[in-house]
Amino acid sequence: MRVAIVGSGYVGLVAAACFADLGHEVVCVDNDSAKIAALVAGEVPIHEEFLPELLTRHRGKRLKFTGSLPEAVRNCEIVFIAVGTPPTPQGDADLSYVEAVAREIGLQLNEYAVIVEKSTVPVFTCQRVRRVVTLNASAPIEFDVASNPEFLREGTAVTDFLYPDRIVIGADAERAAQILKRLYEPMTSGEYYRQPNAIAAPNASVRIPPPLVITSTQSAELIKHASNAFLAMKISFINAVANICEAVGADVEQVCQGVGLDSRIGQRFLRPGIGWGGSCFPKDVMAFRAVAQECGYDFGLLEEVMRINDEQRNRFVRKIRNTLWTLKSKRLAVLGLAFKGGTDDIRESPALALIEELLREGCTIAAYDPAAMDRVRAERPELGITFCANPYEAADAADALIILTDWDEFASLDLARLHTALKYPIVVDGRNLYPPEMMAEKGFMYASVGRPTAAPSHKPVLSATTVNGSTR
Ligand SMILES: NC(=O)c1ccc[n+]([C@@H]2O[C@H](COP(=O)([O-])OP(=O)(O)OC[C@H]3O[C@@H](n4cnc5c(N)ncnc54)[C@H](O)[C@@H]3O)[C@@H](O)[C@H]2O)c1
Repeated sequence: MRVAIVGSGYVGLVAAACFADLGHEVVCVDNDSAKIAALVAGEVPIHEEFLPELLTRHRGKRLKFTGSLPEAVRNCEIVFIAVGTPPTPQGDADLSYVEAVAREIGLQLNEYAVIVEKSTVPVFTCQRVRRVVTLNASAPIEFDVASNPEFLREGTAVTDFLYPDRIVIGADAERAAQILKRLYEPMTSGEYYRQPNAIAAPNASVRIPPPLVITSTQSAELIKHASNAFLAMKISFINAVANICEAVGADVEQVCQGVGLDSRIGQRFLRPGIGWGGSCFPKDVMAFRAVAQECGYDFGLLEEVMRINDEQRNRFVRKIRNTLWTLKSKRLAVLGLAFKGGTDDIRESPALALIEELLREGCTIAAYDPAAMDRVRAERPELGITFCANPYEAADAADALIILTDWDEFASLDLARLHTALKYPIVVDGRNLYPPEMMAEKGFMYASVGRPTAAPSHKPVLSATTVNGSTR
């Protein structure tokens, strides 16, 4: 099928590469000419596993890039809108990018097409897109507008796209639903997964073929907002439980295990830490709250979900302060800058918000992140962070190590080397990557989230060694 995707960011680019891998002819459009030039030249603008491989496989063949929306939209059966929907200062979604693209599509449409919202948008956006396209069409043209929300997560975007928990198609017209069903048929028939060069499944528990959920456009739009709000709620909930664990000396990881084994609840996303962030959850929870308000429903639960999240960051700064006594002039080694492991995306990163707070308190920061350092260097030069080549360089002579994202690399550090590098063997872990007893055995004072702080049981090295050559 011939597919155009307007917006070549995290979602548009991944979707384009994956649709090409499913066998479709895809044109990817963006109005950022530097991004298009980079893509045409073979660069990969974002850090995502398997994306370089797919781009190499299809670039210039089934996958093309252009800055010209008219060129892309002409003769395409399906046109996706995958541009950003950032929050306005009032908290609702800024739909001006979606509107601008809908207007341009209206001007260019020369034969029937399905226009598909891939961006996360509030309920009734399909109707608004339909109206804008109709108002701008140069001649009466038949078209449909459908919703196909995207559930991929950055860091595992390609496998999330190709092995989704479900595919949601919101279509009010049968013709549009049939076209979108055909688009996903290589996945829903299982054919794609039988191909020898298909991207491999990330684990044995993915559902093959993925279930297809066909709904009205309003339901599809609500499914996306409700899913993200629920996931944010699950994290805020377990963070609130972690705070009670800290108050009573319980271990939140044990609580998570016991709670998560209930199949009605599940283990996934019961991950206490420094709170959720990123380009989606904060804006989508706010936008869903705004949608509810506009419909006359006071969704106060979402307000509380956001409040707990903000408070979680403040608590973590207090935890670092309590562990170090004072923060002024302390040199801190920080692991992780992006909003989570596996990505270079720093939008709404809780790690950066925490770093800003630590800098305000007078700390200096030496940081390491496997993927996000170039982005922070380019976009946040005012922070004055020292960027390091590896975790041990960051830890060199630092007063403490602070872990802020959950990269696998951070969970398998050489602890002896780390101990030697640090000025004081103190680790404050915002992602609970290590068992506290094990850290204490290795000689660290180790503070984490929702678990008792652990410290070495033996006396510090100083009191057991020699002073001026004689043993005390
Ligand atoms: N990032 C995620 O993990 C994720 C997951 C699911 C859904 N979403 C949703 O998908 C949408 C896109 O998110 P993203 O993270 O890919 O955003 P992004 O900022 O990475 O990409 C958006 C792209 O659209 C381009 N663009 C803007 N206006 C344009 C126009 N008029 N013509 C052509 N291109 C234009 C921008 O230059 C940019 O490259 C958002 O609504 C987001 O909420 C994101």
